[in-house]
Amino acid sequence: MLNIIMCGAPGCGKGTQSDLIVEKYSLTHLSTGDLLRKEIAMKTDLGIIADSYISKGELVPDEMIIDILLKYVENQHDDSNGIILDGFPRTVAQAEALEVMLKKLDKEISLLVDLKVTENELIDRLIIRGKTSGRSDDNIETIKKRLDVYHKLTEPVNDFYKNKNQYTPIDGMGTIEEIFGRISGVIDSKKA
Ligand code: AP5
Ligand code: MG
Repeated sequence: MLNIIMCGAPGCGKGTQSDLIVEKYSLTHLSTGDLLRKEIAMKTDLGIIADSYISKGELVPDEMIIDILLKYVENQHDDSNGIILDGFPRTVAQAEALEVMLKKLDKEISLLVDLKVTENELIDRLIIRGKTSGRSDDNIETIKKRLDVYHKLTEPVNDFYKNKNQYTPIDGMGTIEEIFGRISGVIDSKKA
């Protein structure tokens, strides 16, 4: 089993690279952001609550997202080679909850990929995407808030995985193909 956490700041390429990894290694892609956006599009009660946080650039409450993930993982019965968690865990409390969840399922994280991208490049990518994405959080004010929240609440998650020797920083600058080559190299070395 290959269970990968994709993390890094907003716009670092988690979704883009997850799609490529999923295809190459036959994994299941779970993006908590995409899940929440689906709920918003369907105007469910959950979506309405989630939107009030997302559009401000804040994280949705831990209990809510942990509950969503639990339900997803419990109902996940497929024959993929593992899972990519994209955008989860985003707080230390989420990382701790994930540990408990995985232990129960007798599974473990193979590695955490942290895509390192400069702040200017992150902002450029998200502003460009904002022109067509329709995402309520792709505007300069909310992007800055998302970056603040990332530094305050999500970066500390890296230390949690450094202590377990699962933390792998990867240069997230360059072309999509170059970055994918770096990530594949690390995954292949883990599998070997
Ligand atoms: P989420 O959807 O996870 O958004 P994010 O972390 O802000 O990251 P993005 O999806 O914007 O960027 P990405 O890293 O996936 O990059 P992408 O590949 O798209 O979360 C959104 C919100 O949901 C959160 O703010 C929070 O409110 C809530 N949420 C989600 N999970 C949560 C959790 N666990 N707990 C609490 N709340 C949660 O790339 C970005 C752009 O750059 C794209 O246009 C892409 O085409 C382009 N691009 C990619 N790679 C390159 C490259 N190498 N060169 C040039 N352009 C590139
Ligand atoms: Mg994404």
